Amino acid sequence: MTSLVITVTETLRYRGAIGQWSWALHRLSGLGVVLFLVLHVIDTSWAVFWPGLYEEAIASYQSPLFTIGEFGLVAAVVYHAFNGLRIVFFDYKPHLWRHQQRAAQIVLLATLVVLAPVFLLMFGHVLDFYRSAPQVLPLTEVLRAQLVFLPGFIAAIVAAVILSGLHGLVAGGGEAAASVQGSRSERFWWSFMRVSSLLILPLVFGHLGVMHVLQGVFDITAQGHDVVGTGLVNESGTAVEFVAARWNLLVGGVAVWRVYDFALLALVVAHGFNGLRYVLTDYTSHSPLLRRASVYLCMLGAVTLLLLGVGALLGTIDETAIEMGVAAMERLHAAP
Ligand code: HEM
Ligand code: HEM
Repeated sequence: MTSLVITVTETLRYRGAIGQWSWALHRLSGLGVVLFLVLHVIDTSWAVFWPGLYEEAIASYQSPLFTIGEFGLVAAVVYHAFNGLRIVFFDYKPHLWRHQQRAAQIVLLATLVVLAPVFLLMFGHVLDFYRSAPQVLPLTEVLRAQLVFLPGFIAAIVAAVILSGLHGLVAGGGEAAASVQGSRSERFWWSFMRVSSLLILPLVFGHLGVMHVLQGVFDITAQGHDVVGTGLVNESGTAVEFVAARWNLLVGGVAVWRVYDFALLALVVAHGFNGLRYVLTDYTSHSPLLRRASVYLCMLGAVTLLLLGVGALLGTIDETAIEMGVAAMERLHAAP
């Protein structure tokens, strides 16, 4: 806790030092994207496991609150990616360290240069949507829909603390011996963070380009609209049919969008949750119980998301699922 307070106060006090700001922004943007990822992978799995609920989740994404969040998300991903490249570059070229300050400024500039046209295009989609006089979920409904996640978060934290307590009892004094092996695995994770970030970059930019620039979040439920990357049309105008069209597309017998999403899922979950572990263990280093609980929380989170995400990717979205999506859409539109 003390180190968290120090992080915040030092970042604010240390005005003018761009290195400190870029470190804080990198951390904040990474955490923001991890939080979004948790909600997003759970939501997406509903397209297979609970089609009606998926329709509601996408309706929430199309509310003003999420539209603001969407702009923040894109900004976070772009800044984090460029700043991540800067970190990787200087890790492998330490003799150029004296240019750090300049590089941090270039990262900020590059982020603004990329975001300007992207935001304009995204804003165009927002305007088109509101010009079509849509039915938008009220804020209370959107917030209520997010409440379902709260018990899950609390359960994961409680489970992590219990596991950590049990671990402490079983390991007893054997923890010191484990630290040698620990430092070996830390070296692995250090390299993994760097290699994974280079692989994630094209995948996540491609995904965002498809979902925000080529088509907007609103086009996911536009009836008669093309489903990006498939050559098909969304006949029912349901989010379920959108995902079905993409995941069922075969090119040379390969479900290309499923393979793409699998690579994205595996890399961002491992990179994001290991990053979350760095952050949480930084602030819990004073307490072995909380430190271990942080590690367990990240492991539980990563395994749950991978199981859900892979389960959905291996699942089937058939006509019945689309009909359930249509029924949910009608319910949403009929609601006062
Ligand atoms: C608001 C922004 C976003 C929208 C509207 C969006 C939309 C979608 C949609 C419709 C799918 C279903 C599959 C498909 O059609 O390919 C999907 C899957 C996925 N998205 Fe996104 N996406 C967004 C941002 C992101 C970001 C920032 C990440 C990574 C950090 C991400 C990671 C994934 C993953 C891993 C899957 C596969 C999930 C699974 O296996 O169940 N998405 N996304
Ligand atoms: C788009 C390409 C990306 C690049 C180039 C990138 C790069 C990096 C780098 C170099 C680090 C520092 C690793 C270390 O300190 O050992 C890092 C940390 C982190 N990344 Fe990423 N990353 C990317 C995408 C993502 C995504 C999609 C997420 C979330 C799902 C994420 C979440 C995090 C978190 C939480 C940290 C820890 C931050 C900290 O320790 O302060 N990153 N990233």
